[in-house]
Amino acid sequence: MSEQPVMVKEPVRPSHEPILEVRDLVKHFPLTQGILFKKQIGAVKAVDGVSFDLFPGETLGIVGESGCGKSTVARLLVNLEEATAGQIRYKGEDITKLSGRALKAVRRNIQMVFQDPYTSLNPRMTVGDIIGEPYEIHPEVAPKGDRRKRVQDLLDVVGLNPEYINRYPHQFSGGQRQRIGIARGLALRPEIIVADEPVSALDVSVQAQVVNLMGRLQDEFDLSYMFIAHDLSIVRHISDRVGVMYLGKIVEIGGDEEIYEHPTHPYTQALLSAVPVPDPEAREHRERIILAGDVPSPANPPSGCRFRTRCWKAQERCSLEEPLLAVPPVFRGTAGPAEHESACHFAEEKQVVPGE
Ligand SMILES: Nc1ncnc2c1ncn2[C@@H]1O[C@H](COP(=O)(O)OP(=O)(O)O)[C@@H](O)[C@H]1O
Ligand code: SF4
Ligand SMILES: [Mg+2]
Repeated sequence: MSEQPVMVKEPVRPSHEPILEVRDLVKHFPLTQGILFKKQIGAVKAVDGVSFDLFPGETLGIVGESGCGKSTVARLLVNLEEATAGQIRYKGEDITKLSGRALKAVRRNIQMVFQDPYTSLNPRMTVGDIIGEPYEIHPEVAPKGDRRKRVQDLLDVVGLNPEYINRYPHQFSGGQRQRIGIARGLALRPEIIVADEPVSALDVSVQAQVVNLMGRLQDEFDLSYMFIAHDLSIVRHISDRVGVMYLGKIVEIGGDEEIYEHPTHPYTQALLSAVPVPDPEAREHRERIILAGDVPSPANPPSGCRFRTRCWKAQERCSLEEPLLAVPPVFRGTAGPAEHESACHFAEEKQVVPGE
């Protein structure tokens, strides 16, 4: 039998200061025309005003359909893309403004695990060189003489045989390769790991093993995670809070029970209605919400609420006024699980997935 996700986490409640505060983050990719004289004719609004906090030791899950801007957010956090606007504050300091040594020091603490372990590892490098590569940029973390031992320890930590240090990526399975990617992410002993769909490319049977490994490592190394996925089922097991993205924006964010059992945004409700339900009786009684049409282009998002072209509840107000991500007035002060942020003018509770 395949391993089941065993992580049922005690919620980490934001009792301390956030380690990361993201505010109004924007990334627009210019759309150009012409070969010799490139003229900008528009922009792909990949990330268009995203705000959230990440607290020490917690896992924030981010979900949304392909193309909604999840990878771009991840790449902005680790400085692989430059923000068009907005702030990323790490322990209170805006890192989008840093350069040189100050930036390098911060980058050490925020590492990324990539989506596809088949393409993200250099096929011509040994596992030892792949995992130890970050030490070339940060030699202060591991002096040259210590590196081999450090890499072997990392292999051990992620459940691989330390003797595999001289092997090449093609000698490993997908799940093992993602363990190598995780070991590399840990090499500099970061505080934050941004994992961009770390299990999406893996067989279902190994997904849970990798998720469980990440859970163990989180406790062992005191890590804060941002864990990205394209569907809601895998993030539930690992997340303390979940944010749902649609077309460059977060449309709903809250604790895992708030989002899974008391969603108030129609898009979250639609995503949840597609999550597999193991219990046949519960499956029979749940309502499937089929969304009409495709995701609109991020180069030309709908006015007002971006979800309105696919929303079954849309009214005139939705095209005129953009709903902000905030606790909807109807739930304010209720102290119930529906009292969480949701960007909808007509937010309503709807239990889509039968309670666990
Ligand atoms: N370098 C780039 N240049 C132009 N458009 C891009 C670039 N990277 C991403 N995009 C576009 O930005 C949008 C969001 O992409 P991405 O962040 O990869 O979404 P996700 O990870 O949620 O699938 C998509 O429309 C994608 O085509
Ligand atoms: S604001 Fe309107 S269109 Fe947007 S999710 Fe709410 S009801 Fe639907
Ligand atoms: Mg992506």
